[in-house]
Amino acid sequence: MNTKNFRGLDFLAETDWTRAEIETILEVAAELKARRKQHELTTDILSAKTLFMIFYNQSLRTRNSFEAGMTQLGGHAHYLDPSKIYTPAMEGQEKAYSTERVSDVARTLSRMGDAIAIRCYGDPVEWKYGGAHEMLLEFARWADIPVLNMEDDIYHPFQGLADILTVKEKFGGFKGVKFLMSWAYSPSIEKPRAVPQSAILYATMMGMDVTLAHPNGMELAPDILATCQEYASRAGSTFKISNDFEDALNGQDVVYAKAWCATPLFQPPIGRHDLQETQAIFDANKDWIVDERTMALAQKDAIYMHCLPADRGYEATNEIMDGPQSVIFDQAENRLHVQKAVMSLVMR
Ligand code: CP
Repeated sequence: MNTKNFRGLDFLAETDWTRAEIETILEVAAELKARRKQHELTTDILSAKTLFMIFYNQSLRTRNSFEAGMTQLGGHAHYLDPSKIYTPAMEGQEKAYSTERVSDVARTLSRMGDAIAIRCYGDPVEWKYGGAHEMLLEFARWADIPVLNMEDDIYHPFQGLADILTVKEKFGGFKGVKFLMSWAYSPSIEKPRAVPQSAILYATMMGMDVTLAHPNGMELAPDILATCQEYASRAGSTFKISNDFEDALNGQDVVYAKAWCATPLFQPPIGRHDLQETQAIFDANKDWIVDERTMALAQKDAIYMHCLPADRGYEATNEIMDGPQSVIFDQAENRLHVQKAVMSLVMR
């Protein structure tokens, strides 16, 4: 396994990486997971290195898996709340003595640590689709150290890595696995699209037969869909889109169902920020729920996936989330292993 070429790279979007590189990351993650299960110390890998983590949004899994991961690799993860520093802001969006230009923050932190990880979507960029990803790219432009995407408004690349590691563990590989990414109802209409977009990008890249299901009005970004189609063609697999939840569930091996916000919520280039219209689309589709009846439409031994946090009783019932087909805590655990893999490869 040649891993030396990963050193110094950013991890901003899965589309920047080849299938072979993603497979290497999964192998390293599996190795680090096995070493942890054996209680083997791995603190020599990133000894005395520092990861700066800037969270514009809340988090349980991402923050704690990065922090725990850095501890286990011998380094330190440093949490930065943007409201308690001079909030990093893009040129033209600065406020005197309250914000600090992204280029200055990136260069300052580059002098002190070994990587910068950022989570940003939604309110901090006023739901302008792609606005947060643009900011991450700006950090990467100015930082001399790797920049890691802890979820923006387009991609959640570490969640997607954890998801495919989980599928690989359950099915032994990807070929022939039928993977459904479906929208599910939630009372909260403000949810980013990064998880489903990353899930379908990785699933098609790895050659699974992928179905994306959602009600009308919940379309994902056209360029993401085009890339999925291209990945599926390259892999000799399929990528389909359905607006019929029950039909889409039929015969699936993987049922991954979660809410994301409707097309009207986002500002251009996708959507037009209409909260009332968004609410109406959500309310018309409350029957998009994974329960024992709908899950039974999939294969008998299908797995149920969710990135968490979940809206129990809306996106899925307790019986499904806590039932034998659920792999949600494997997914959560695998965040730790895939992030350790990427950090060990790019921060060494
Ligand atoms: N799945 C995920 O990213 O969880 P958090 O929002 O808790 O980090």
